[in-house]
Amino acid sequence: MPVSVIILAAGQGTRMNSDLPKVLHPVGAAPLLHHAMRAAQALDPERMIVVVGQGADLVSKAAKAFDPEVEIVFQTEQRGTGHAVRQAAPLLVGAAGDTIVLYGDTPFVRPETLSRLRQARDRHAVVVLGFIAQDPDHYGRLLTTGDDLNRIVEHKDASPEERAITLCNSGVICAETSLLLDLVQGLGTANAAGEYYLTDIVGLARDRGLSAGVVICDEAETLGINTRAQLARAEAAFQTAMRADALANGVTLTAPDTVFFALDTHIGRDAVIAPNVVFGPGVTVESGAVIHAFCHLEGCHVSRGASVGPFARLRPGAELAEDVHVGNFVELKNAVLDEGVKVGHLTYLGDAHVGEHANIGAGTVTCNFDGVTKHHTEIGARTFIGSDTMLVAPVSIGAGAMTAAGSVITADVPAQALALARARQVNKPGLAARLMERLRTIKAAKGQG
Ligand code: UD1
Ligand code: CA
Repeated sequence: MPVSVIILAAGQGTRMNSDLPKVLHPVGAAPLLHHAMRAAQALDPERMIVVVGQGADLVSKAAKAFDPEVEIVFQTEQRGTGHAVRQAAPLLVGAAGDTIVLYGDTPFVRPETLSRLRQARDRHAVVVLGFIAQDPDHYGRLLTTGDDLNRIVEHKDASPEERAITLCNSGVICAETSLLLDLVQGLGTANAAGEYYLTDIVGLARDRGLSAGVVICDEAETLGINTRAQLARAEAAFQTAMRADALANGVTLTAPDTVFFALDTHIGRDAVIAPNVVFGPGVTVESGAVIHAFCHLEGCHVSRGASVGPFARLRPGAELAEDVHVGNFVELKNAVLDEGVKVGHLTYLGDAHVGEHANIGAGTVTCNFDGVTKHHTEIGARTFIGSDTMLVAPVSIGAGAMTAAGSVITADVPAQALALARARQVNKPGLAARLMERLRTIKAAKGQG
């Protein structure tokens, strides 16, 4: 049975108190919307439709960045969840199978839960994902008789008896596509909010003699983000889950609570991650690599046997081949380091390629930016770059060449050559002592005057 997914993401999220649309606030360095899209993707949907409204340009862009195939639908006025689904209807006319509705601000729904929802469609025309709420305030309540779901009543519209119910609506709904489209056309706005409630399709289905059911999941999965406080709690929950996954997958985390992951972080078995390491988006660390304490990694790849840090920063485009060593206070950006390269200390390599087994001395800097344009530095295999070498790009150092410590390299260095680009040293015998004496005399004279 094919399945389509509609993700609702048109609201501003007033309670976030933000200029940024709610679904673009990050958890695990990825917008909330990407979490929902990831859960949807696991169902291998026929079509994925995102409904955008507030901040439509930004939200569509973020959606396309995750999946270029995604279809975008505009809801110019936010007139309720049912109204939002209606906007997607034209795209789904004639589509076979089921449709699942998800919210862009609900990041933790698990693919397994969505599969259970689909299975329950064997028994019911409409299936709702419910949970037992600790604090049911604000949620829609599920009115049930035994296994049957009769109706959903929104908190605003609920009687005191209905408000006592703790079985709540997560917002996730699954129905046969043609039925869903039909039911949303029948929605009205005679309710406390004056909105088209998607939740009313349950009552409408029952009025037609169709059956509706509930699949229950853990409250943690249905956590919706409405405030910054909830965003912070969601981040904490996400990190806890990622740490547990990493440990279960055979990664050593010396102090798990101090390591922060992104949604797409991949770490191989037997890698070691020391305390206080932060992973931004787009990082893969291969099996057996070691990331020492206090490193920040983003958009980079660390191969087997490499060691990084302590106190290293790997920025987008940093590619470390096997057995590369990157030491303390080293920053790499768009830099490819071939096998066995050593960059021990206090170095910046940007827009560079370093050939295998090169040794980069302390304090080396690729001067890659001239104020307008970035330029490339090519450092050959088995070169020895002396400490405090400034490599003024574009420049290339041939294989097996050396640069003298303190050199400012502005011209290409041929293979096997030694480049010296610094002033020749001059020693003046006795001058230091004479100079000090004169300075002291001047100071003493001032003190008396
Ligand atoms: C909704 C449910 C409620 C459920 C709760 C779970 C309805 C009527 N109520 O309430 O039963 O317990 O979620 O969190 O469905 N959106 C649009 N366009 C709109 C309105 C909303 O795209 O016109 C999107 C929002 O961006 C958000 C999602 O739909 O991602 C939910 O909307 P929200 O206003 O938060 O619904 P709740 O009032 O929380
Ligand atoms: Ca909400």
